[in-house]
Amino acid sequence: MIPKISTLSGYLYEYQKSLANPEAFWGNIAENFYWRKKWDNVLEWDFDNYDTKWFVNGKLNITENIFEKNLFMLADQPAIIWEPNDPSEAAITITYKELFEKVCQFANVLKAQGVQKGDRVAIYMPMIPEAAVAMLACARIGAIHSVVFAGFSATSLSDRINDSQCKVVLTSDGNFRGKKNIAVKKVVDEALENCSSVEKVIVVQRTHAEVNMKAGRDLWWHEVVEGVFTDNVAEEMDAEDMLFILYTSGSTGKPKGVVHTTAGYMVYTAYSFINVFQYNKGDIFWCTADVGWITGHSYIVYGPLLAGATIIMYEGVPTYPDVDRFWEVVDKHQVTHFYTAPTAIRALMSYGIEPVNKHKLTSLKVLGSVGEPINEEAWQWYYLHVGKGNCPIVDTWWQTETGGMMMSPLAGITPTKPAYATLPLPGVQPIIVDNDGKELKGNNVEGNLCIKYPWPSMIRTTYGDHERCKNTYFSTFKGYYFTGDGVKRDADGYYRILGRVDDVINVSGHRMGTAEVENAINSHPLVIESAVVGFPHEIKGQGIYAYVVLDSASENHEVDKIRQSLLLTVSKVIGPIAKPDTIQVVTGLPKTRSGKIMRRILRKVAEKEIGSLGDTSTLLNPEVVEEIIEGAGLKVPS
Ligand code: WT7
Repeated sequence: MIPKISTLSGYLYEYQKSLANPEAFWGNIAENFYWRKKWDNVLEWDFDNYDTKWFVNGKLNITENIFEKNLFMLADQPAIIWEPNDPSEAAITITYKELFEKVCQFANVLKAQGVQKGDRVAIYMPMIPEAAVAMLACARIGAIHSVVFAGFSATSLSDRINDSQCKVVLTSDGNFRGKKNIAVKKVVDEALENCSSVEKVIVVQRTHAEVNMKAGRDLWWHEVVEGVFTDNVAEEMDAEDMLFILYTSGSTGKPKGVVHTTAGYMVYTAYSFINVFQYNKGDIFWCTADVGWITGHSYIVYGPLLAGATIIMYEGVPTYPDVDRFWEVVDKHQVTHFYTAPTAIRALMSYGIEPVNKHKLTSLKVLGSVGEPINEEAWQWYYLHVGKGNCPIVDTWWQTETGGMMMSPLAGITPTKPAYATLPLPGVQPIIVDNDGKELKGNNVEGNLCIKYPWPSMIRTTYGDHERCKNTYFSTFKGYYFTGDGVKRDADGYYRILGRVDDVINVSGHRMGTAEVENAINSHPLVIESAVVGFPHEIKGQGIYAYVVLDSASENHEVDKIRQSLLLTVSKVIGPIAKPDTIQVVTGLPKTRSGKIMRRILRKVAEKEIGSLGDTSTLLNPEVVEEIIEGAGLKVPS
């Protein structure tokens, strides 16, 4: 049994133990998994020339730890309860035994289609059980999955497929999301016009939309699984063999492929799941994320299934067919743990408490929050109206790169404080540094959040470009992993995440690089240049504000038409989630004499906080500042 902390003093004790001897601490936890061969060393690491290896030379397969290890106890227990988009369609329950069979069967299919250990497989699927089966089947045979959120555009999908040279794409004919019926396969077809590495596409029939099946390349899922054996011997993996790649945005250029490996990720996701959520046998765990994000990887699929939990997998959106859908599903499936993003809470909060109060919600024991800072008002609403004042909230801070939750209360154990991620998990060593990299010790300090010691599920590399990994995470502050977040440690030693300090914005819990959005906008033929900044948004947390300089040819077009066309371009290049909330056309961007865009000024205008613009006289073009302020509908301070 994976050790579970049950008291505050137990937490403090484990935390101290993990500081005093991290290797003994993690080695002890790792003993509770099934290894084909034990590790030689728990940890080898170097943050200067980045390299981290956990459970060195250990051999295992993560799916044997989900299935074979526990099956004698869990065979008939539900693994996945799938709730469809449309409530009139029946929910589906899949037991551990059934899931095991499906995973083995699909693993055999992948092998038959030529997928071998180490090959990359792209998964572009809606929230249907096949998405989890696909991931686990890859892990079973040692193929590396790269799940791409099915809301991303064809261009985004082909970029990701090409970056990691995927051999196979797993997808669906279509995707039901609220009232929408999205033609997923069409997007894949378009993407694959530019992807020469892809040999096969396997398509789940979900919406029965008419699709084009390319002979020799495209296969129906239900046809290829027919008659295929449901037993399969797992591939033996090295502890450090890649488990998956997941692309995420940074402050520069194209999204990068964050690489997670097998053993460390397994140990950390299971341990953090059990301890943060205080999972007990029989609990029903619902994480509302999409499997396209790290939250879906770690706390829909791997963490909970390694712990033998029952998960809810929900296909739809929070507001369909009505704004009480979440609460209806909680009652329907007697959900005990509910884990969602602040943006969803704020959106539902805007409809008042009546939709919540229509449902009992008595099954709930623990509430979770993830993806962005949760404001105090949303925290209180969640606590009082959803949790009825007796469910602890775990505000879990972590990142795609961290693989698992890094700071969070342990449910019901760590005293909570609204908007605080509270304390680090055992094994996590956060430190706060100032802009010169000097450690800020003691309490009541604020600065850049770094981690000074490895933890098992940390990023190993960025796919195909280790230099980029070193530069992004290990060069800003020497000897530390830099998170990109600002943080405050209060008088009690509690941590509060303040948001990104780099050029990354967080829109509805989705991470976006401002450079990425600018590149998309700049690809429009009428655009000369642009600058994108975030601004506080009541529901999304942050909104996207774009300043755009247009070509003179734009004079022949209405500005509103151009705006529409820019939104379309961004949707096509990235996806609808990256569409700016505001597009302001300007004649120039404020620049320093060396030609650098003064984003600080643009941020202030977007925030409507122009009282504190500072000195703008040293700019190359100070005159544009007034124009920008007025163009934003604000008054130039006298
Ligand atoms: C960024 C990581 C981790 C899963 C989802 C997002 C922000 C995440 C919190 C939180 C304040 C948070 C940070 C982080 N973030 N959780 N509880 N409180 N901020 O993963 O897309 O990799 O984004 O999300 O800014 O750096 P991601």
